[in-house]
Amino acid sequence: MIEIIGLTKKYGSFYALQDLNLTIEEGVVFGFVGANGAGKSTTFSILSTLLQPTAGDAFINGVSITKNPQEIRSRIGYMPDFFGVYDQLKAEEYLDFYGASYGIKSDERKALIPKLLSLVNLEDKRYEYVDHLSRGMKQRLCLARSLIHDPEILILDEPASGLDPRARVEMRDILKQLKSMGKTILISSHILPELAEMCDNIGVIDSGKLIAHGSVHEIQAQLQQDKILHVRAAIETAELVRFFEGDPFVSGITIDEGSGSISFHYRGDDLQQAELLKQVSAVLPILSFHPEETDLEDVFMAITKGVASK
Ligand SMILES: Nc1ncnc2c1ncn2[C@@H]1O[C@H](COP(=O)(O)OP(=O)(O)OP(=O)(O)O)[C@@H](O)[C@H]1O
Ligand SMILES: [Mg+2]
Repeated sequence: MIEIIGLTKKYGSFYALQDLNLTIEEGVVFGFVGANGAGKSTTFSILSTLLQPTAGDAFINGVSITKNPQEIRSRIGYMPDFFGVYDQLKAEEYLDFYGASYGIKSDERKALIPKLLSLVNLEDKRYEYVDHLSRGMKQRLCLARSLIHDPEILILDEPASGLDPRARVEMRDILKQLKSMGKTILISSHILPELAEMCDNIGVIDSGKLIAHGSVHEIQAQLQQDKILHVRAAIETAELVRFFEGDPFVSGITIDEGSGSISFHYRGDDLQQAELLKQVSAVLPILSFHPEETDLEDVFMAITKGVASK
């Protein structure tokens, strides 16, 4: 079990991570979703003991990541969001190098490396130079590297970023396999639907704060309380904007000149929405007034940016 308690990281006066509290059960695939700069890599670097938090702590099966980083490192496998340059190193040598750095004996490494390469579908690249591998192959090799000491927990920072659709499916299948081996997996992405497909639970992080977490279904329900309304009227859009911009439940008004409509983020409940429609219809010639059909991606965009995504 991973328990994150009050985890905070400050750079000067800037909070990259602010009071993160979260419990992740064993054997779960947990997805961290957030926009660029939300704090995903910061969280993962801290959990991987590569970065010291400013405040708070996290415990892996009761062991503190700040007090016992050495023990934590033997229990987690970390895949960073960048690969690095490995001049003149072949795939096999790359894994051998990391295996040795974890203190795995030479004989064991010899037996282990083909198995790992097979797990990530890179058997045929065993003697290829690492720098000659494609991006997707490098990512899979990096995943193999994070598995070399058979960790209980995998922390994978955007493992599917930049992969083509087929490579994404392959990555998902590999993660499924790892889950079936009993590993707890933390994975990050800035694409919610991508995580929804492979995760049991999800946390949404925005500007260093966890703004929602739970099962995929719970998140969907939680986030969809924030809806986007589209309004069209037989008048200039500027007049429509003027009507809605003072409403405390309205934010992020966007004008769509093409359709002559406006859209905005609406935080009121159904009754308040009905009242709003009544009021606007009383003074303006409304042609249509409807909530947007939300898919996960739209909802995520709306909640993290506070404006409509379209
Ligand atoms: N060493 C640093 N010094 C100052 N600010 C930093 C440093 N590292 C990260 N930050 C800031 O902390 C915030 C969170 O960064 P982080 O890398 O965790 O985001 P992320 O969610 O991983 O984003 P991305 O999707 O782009 O990878 C950003 O605003 C970033 O600029
Ligand atoms: Mg990142």
